[in-house]
Formats: sequence, structure tokens, C-alpha cells
Amino acid sequence: MGVRGGVFTLTMARLNLRLRNHLFRTLMSQEIAFFDENHTGDILSRLSADTTQVSDLISQNVNIFLRSAIKGVGFFIFMFKMSWKLTLVTVMGFPFIALVSKVYGEYYKKMTKEVQTTLAEANKVAEETISAMRTVRSFANEGGEADSYYAKLLVMFQLNKKQALAYACYMWSSSTSELALESIASVYTGLMQGVGAAEKVFEYLDRKPKHPAEGVDAPDICTGLVEFKDITFAYPTRSETDILKGVSFTLRPGEVTALVGPSGSGKSSCVSLLENFYVPQQGHVLLDGKPVNTFQHSYLHSKVALVGQEPVLFARTVKENIAYGLSDVSMEAVVQAATKANAHDFISTLPKGYDTSVGEKGTQLSGGQKQRVAIARALIRNPRVLVLDEATSALDAESEHIVQQALNNIMQEHTVMVIAHRLSTVEKADNIIVIDGGLVAEQGSHDELMASGGLYCKLVQRQVLGNESRAEVLNPAENIRWKSSSGHLRKRVNSSSSGSESDSNMRY
Ligand SMILES: Nc1ncnc2c1ncn2[C@@H]1O[C@H](COP(=O)(O)OP(=O)(O)OP(=O)(O)O)[C@@H](O)[C@H]1O
Ligand SMILES: [Mg+2]
Repeated sequence: MGVRGGVFTLTMARLNLRLRNHLFRTLMSQEIAFFDENHTGDILSRLSADTTQVSDLISQNVNIFLRSAIKGVGFFIFMFKMSWKLTLVTVMGFPFIALVSKVYGEYYKKMTKEVQTTLAEANKVAEETISAMRTVRSFANEGGEADSYYAKLLVMFQLNKKQALAYACYMWSSSTSELALESIASVYTGLMQGVGAAEKVFEYLDRKPKHPAEGVDAPDICTGLVEFKDITFAYPTRSETDILKGVSFTLRPGEVTALVGPSGSGKSSCVSLLENFYVPQQGHVLLDGKPVNTFQHSYLHSKVALVGQEPVLFARTVKENIAYGLSDVSMEAVVQAATKANAHDFISTLPKGYDTSVGEKGTQLSGGQKQRVAIARALIRNPRVLVLDEATSALDAESEHIVQQALNNIMQEHTVMVIAHRLSTVEKADNIIVIDGGLVAEQGSHDELMASGGLYCKLVQRQVLGNESRAEVLNPAENIRWKSSSGHLRKRVNSSSSGSESDSNMRY
């Protein structure tokens, strides 16, 4: 008895291990759009509750089933020996039981699936609320969230009640057939429950990513020339609205290209396409003349590094965050990257220095500190193409100035794309691309665009006029200019008049 139980517990643990491992790996290979469509709580529910239920129920019930089957065979042999005629009479009830079991089994399976779905929905609410606790508290909506969680639980309770009723009916019908097949009935129930939960798990396990990262190219030399060629793009979750409508531009090595445009015009979407998160409906994003999806996944992401608009750190130490995704990174390299990102000083003052934990999603750091760690994380890879999406937006003028100085050094042979709302960052770029309504409205240098008097000029004038007085106070007179001459950057000192614009907080 004990041995059998032990063996089954072990089997259950192994089944659980394999299921979760497989499921997690399949999830990791899904395209980004999958994560737009499916909520974290939902996915976590599949990964924890459903896999546990599958392995528990299946292994437990197989255990009981084996025991009952052996017992049953013994009974029949015994009964046959006593009187084969009476045994035959007993067996006559079997087709009825089989029919009832079939109907009941299907129903129970369906109910279990529904229960698992509502459980996943309840988890979604819980996960979302707990991870956004500060927002919930600041809007004093704790009660509202608790109510919506309870509402989901109530839906589940209704389903549980139906299940209980079905179970009672089934037990009653099988006992009226004068056969006390109790244990077989409960095994059947258990197995059906397991199958119901398993169907949900297999839905994910069998899902093939829509555009798998199957590229194989990994050339030794990467110049870092990026071309957006006639890109038309809509997000899979909103396939009817084109976000980009035939966008073409080029990012050249050794140059800083700034992308500006009103909020929601598609700047970050361009970044997502360069990162191969989505596939455009038309056109291609080319790196060194080849579409980005033809490159090996890890190769592409070692050459193209992104500091995102809302950098997310992991609940690990500062060092582990900077060295994220890399193996065998020396401490010197980490410190060097942190120094370049102007993060070394603040990291040194943390209680455990580089070994300080940053908290979930980096909540134990300030916004600006998070950004600098994220910049260090990008710089340590020494990428060919560096994308900074509002990467310095939470930094004060002084810190931004230092980070920009550091970036100047690495920009010399790199391709840099910056998306920023601060004029100080944008005006120094070699090329400014203005995106409006999913199209490239105009492009050129700051001076050219100002001279042409288009959208860029209007935005600049509006912002500068609005912020002039404050900017003068905030802004140091000296400023570094990014300017490439024959692929190399020179330091230029701005006059104080252009400096007055430099740190005005512009929102394009
Ligand atoms: N994952 C997504 N799924 C569906 N639509 C999205 C998604 N992300 C962005 N969008 C939509 O795409 C449009 C462009 O968004 P995008 O983030 O590229 O704007 P942006 O130019 O970076 O704006 P901002 O300056 O505010 O950062 C917006 O209308 C937005 O609603
Ligand atoms: Mg954006």
C-alpha cells in the first residue's frame, strides 16, 4: 500500500515537473502578440493551478483505478465460481452504467474546463491588482478590486454547485443499478476533471508561435545600417487600424537619428518592428540589407540593444540586472557599463552596492535610477545599433548631460536611434525624422527643419515659447553637441542662446 502510494506521489511530482517545464518553454517561444492577447494572470493560472490539477488527478486516480481494477477482477472470478448465472445477471446492468458514465463524463469535463477558465479569470484580477497595488491604493479602489475578485469567485461557485449536483445524480444512478461501483465512479470523475484541465494546458502546449524566431544568419561583420522600407503595420490585436502607412527611413552607422512626432504616432511601434517583436503587413525592416527576421534570434538582440520607454528591471540584484542575458560577465565590465550610464555613483551608495536587490520590476529604485540601470544593461552588450526610446526622460538635466556624454563616446561607430521629447536630445541629432499619422511627415537636420517651417518647427516654437523662462533656470550654459563629421563625433560647445532651448521639456 505505502509503496504504491509513494511511487504514485513521485510519479505525480515528475509529471508536474515535465508539464510545467514544457509549458513554460512553449510560452517563452510565443510571439509578442500572444502576450498582448493573453493576460498574465490567465497564463499563470494555466502554469500553476491547471498543471497541478492535471498531474494530481491523473496520478491519484490511476492509483485508485489500479487498486479497484485488481479488486474487481478478483470479485468477478470469485462470483463466477460461486454462480455464473447470477454473475451474468449482475453484468446486465453494465451497458446502462457505461451510457450514464459517458454522458456524465462529457458533462463533467466541460464543467471542469469552465471552472478552470473562471479560476484563470479570478487569477487575472488578483495578479493585476497586486502588481499594481500602488495605483489601486492611490485611487482608493481596494474595495472595488476585492468585489470584482469576489464576483469571479462567485461565478466559479455556481459552476461548482452544478458539478456537485451532477456528481450526486451520477452516484445515485449507478447505485440504483445495484452495483456499488463507488470507487470506479469517483475515479472516473477524477479522471474527467483531469482531462478537462489538461485540455486547457494542451491548448497552450500545442500552440505553434505565429512567427517563430527561426532565422539563422549570424555574419561576423555587422555595420549597423538599418532601413525601414515602405512599412505598413497594424497590431494583430487591432488589425483594422494601420499604425504605420508606408514608412521609409534609414538609420546610418555613426549617426544619431531622432524620431519625433505626436504621442501615439507610432514611434515605439517602429522600435518594436526593429526588435522583430512583430511582423509588418507590408515592407521590411532591414539590418545590413537583410530582413531582421532572417537573423539568428540571439545574434539580432546582441547587435540591436534597446532601452525601452518603460524599462522593466527584474527582481534581482543590480549586477544581475546589468548582466541580464549574458553569461560569464566580469565585475569590471558591469562597473564599466554602469559608469558609462552614470549609474555607478548611485549604485555605490546602495546598502549592498551592486548586490542590492532592486525589488519587483525595480520598484525599489527611482525612475531615473531605473533608466540608468537599463542604459547600462544595453551598453554592456556593446551593440551596433542602440535604440533609446525616451531613455533619459526621467533624468535631471545634469544626469542626462553626463549620460549623453557617455553615449557620445560609443556613438562614434554605432547606429543610434533616439526617441525623445527634450529638445536638447533631439536638436543635436544628425537626422530628425518627423512621424505624423503613420507617415514620415518630414526629415532633415534641426536647422533644415526649422528653416522649412513645417510641423517640427511649429512644435519647437510652441514648446520653446512655453518653457523659455523655466528652461533658462534649469539649463547649464554649456552643452555638448552631437555632430558627426566623417563618421566621428566632435564635441561642440553651444552658445548660451541655443542652450536656453535645450532642456525645455518638449512633448512632441
Ligand atoms: N500592443 C499594442 N496593441 C495594439 N495597439 C497598440 C499597441 N501598442 C501601441 N498601440 C497603438 O499604436 C499606436 C502607436 O503607439 P506607439 O506606442 O508607437 O506611439 P508613440 O509614438 O511611441 O507614442 P508616445 O510618444 O506616447 O510614446 C497608438 O495608437 C497605440 O494605441
Ligand atoms: Mg512611445
